[in-house]
Amino acid sequence: MDKLTYAGNLRNLESIADKIKFVKGDICDRELVLSLVKDIDTIVHFAAESHNDRVVMDPEACVRTNVLGTFTLLDAARLNGMKRFHHVSTDEVFGHLPLGEGSFNENTPYAPRSPYPASKAASDHLVRAYHITYGLPITISNCSNNYGPYHFPEKIIPLFICNLKEGKKVPVYGDGLYVRDWIHVEDHCSGIEAILEKGRIGETYCLGGKDSEISNLVLTKKLLALMGRDESFIEHVKDRPGHDRRYSIDYSKAKKEFGWEPKIGIDEGLKMTVDWYAANQAWVDEIRSGAYQDYYKKQYGN
Ligand code: DAU
Repeated sequence: MDKLTYAGNLRNLESIADKIKFVKGDICDRELVLSLVKDIDTIVHFAAESHNDRVVMDPEACVRTNVLGTFTLLDAARLNGMKRFHHVSTDEVFGHLPLGEGSFNENTPYAPRSPYPASKAASDHLVRAYHITYGLPITISNCSNNYGPYHFPEKIIPLFICNLKEGKKVPVYGDGLYVRDWIHVEDHCSGIEAILEKGRIGETYCLGGKDSEISNLVLTKKLLALMGRDESFIEHVKDRPGHDRRYSIDYSKAKKEFGWEPKIGIDEGLKMTVDWYAANQAWVDEIRSGAYQDYYKKQYGN
């Protein structure tokens, strides 16, 4: 189920279209959600308004989807005796860390600093409350920054790859010394799968990248090198309001309990990602032109 807002693209599911039943819809639509949960036993809840820059401009859509949408799914799960409800969340609920010191783990107190992570923190609390109050069998994962194929070109890595391909400059916010703990999307998915199979009910697991904590400037220079561009393509621009300095994940709980660890390091992952974007220019063009939004209509006729 996906609302197919600006970042949703049905093309991304083309290769598995014959294996899934796709439903276009809003997770806040109680009637629709109630009708769908009757046929399923597990919800893996990825749906969210997740882009900080957009949310700063328009926090309402984010609070609605992330808080009310999660509540609607939880309540439908409660009423239908769901076997498992897994909530995909973010490390941003923990706030931020100073440069070079400490990592988030499952015991880090919640301290979100902007509306997007505040809404995700609210949804995490609701998920735990449904476990304690109603006995709903839940698990939660709090993950660091994802990257990889099919990533909408608003987040830094796909945006910079697309800009550089088109010969445009890349906008680095503030001093560029903000640090993220990059995880390839395949590693994130393997973490979610491991939690579904082996995680303990009621528990939270932090998932992070393989030795991939780097500053935005270092990341940008790696992308410049991979794309054959020089540093004149860097443009320092105004900083993001409420910009978190550093994220870092200690994933030792998932490793200790069921042997999960990320496999793709940042250099290998960036190379794979740059190659994917080079091989999928038609996908990028459809997004840049807006044509990707007609694809659903072509497939489903409305
Ligand atoms: O940590 C997990 C989170 O990672 C997820 O929960 C969020 O949904 C996801 O958007 C991501 O949040 P960030 O705000 O860290 O991702 P973003 O790609 O927007 O920015 C990464 C860093 O790059 C951040 O320090 C801001 C900086 N940046 C971003 C953009 C888009 C730039 O310097 N220039 C840019 O144009």
